[in-house]
Amino acid sequence: MSGPILLVQNLSKTFAGAGIPRRGRFPVLKDVSFSIEEGGVFGLVGDSGKTTLARTILYLDPPDSGEVFFRGIRLSSLSAGKLRKLRPRMQVIFQDPHRALDPRLTIRQSMEEGMKNLGLPKKKRGAEVKTLLDRVGIPWSQADLYPREFSAGQKQLVAIARALSMRPELLILDEPAANLDVSVQAGVINLLLDLKGEYNLSYMFISRDLDLTGYLAATLGVLKDGRLVESGPAEDLLANPQHPYTRELVENSLTFMDLNKEE
Ligand SMILES: Nc1ncnc2c1ncn2[C@@H]1O[C@H](COP(=O)(O)OP(=O)(O)OP(=O)(O)O)[C@@H](O)[C@H]1O
Ligand SMILES: [Mg+2]
Repeated sequence: MSGPILLVQNLSKTFAGAGIPRRGRFPVLKDVSFSIEEGGVFGLVGDSGKTTLARTILYLDPPDSGEVFFRGIRLSSLSAGKLRKLRPRMQVIFQDPHRALDPRLTIRQSMEEGMKNLGLPKKKRGAEVKTLLDRVGIPWSQADLYPREFSAGQKQLVAIARALSMRPELLILDEPAANLDVSVQAGVINLLLDLKGEYNLSYMFISRDLDLTGYLAATLGVLKDGRLVESGPAEDLLANPQHPYTRELVENSLTFMDLNKEE
């Protein structure tokens, strides 16, 4: 029996109130539940709490309450060591490409480092770096350059290659193209779509762009003030939004068809 690849149950998270010491904590996520099927794309849109949700799911910031199951494994039940072992299987691409890579390492070293931890022998690592850089479109001749020598778009491509080198099963994509030049955004999104099939991945795709997310994801969730106010099949949600906030998002979004008409 195979259940969902990711199951998130009643996740809540608070942070200490900025500037008001001892005055309690403010909630950022409230009772968030959803699941992602094997090979599926879950799209998350909304105003606030998206990155926190990504970090909480990965246990980079453990939740205050609620549970995360990866392939049925309850993350809260794992020791630090076991969690570290599981981590490569869930990779994340963060929204800021400039912070994705260690500035002190060449991109080849960055990629090798992760694979070393996985226990891959040196020869295999070298070959894998070459294959993956090639796949994302970074010339091999640039493998020994430092992150600062790359554009934001290229850094994001390296981050994607690095994530793939961990042989992940789930990728959490936190606005992977939002901070990139408009001219390279489509390339990155299309690459991610292709990689999904090639590497048998499941995606959680986070974005503020409902159009893009609706286009990519079979299932959508809408986060409003830290609560998942609506979720379901993308088609239904876009055609028949139930929550006022979702309705607002749908009304304010230009559909691809509208855009094409204007051309
Ligand atoms: N480590 C932290 N400590 C305290 N507050 C935090 C922390 N991380 C995030 N927050 C706060 O939590 C709220 C949600 O932030 P988050 O980054 O999750 O939103 P987001 O949906 O990703 O936003 P964006 O669309 O701008 O990326 C914000 O008010 C933010 O200031
Ligand atoms: Mg964010």
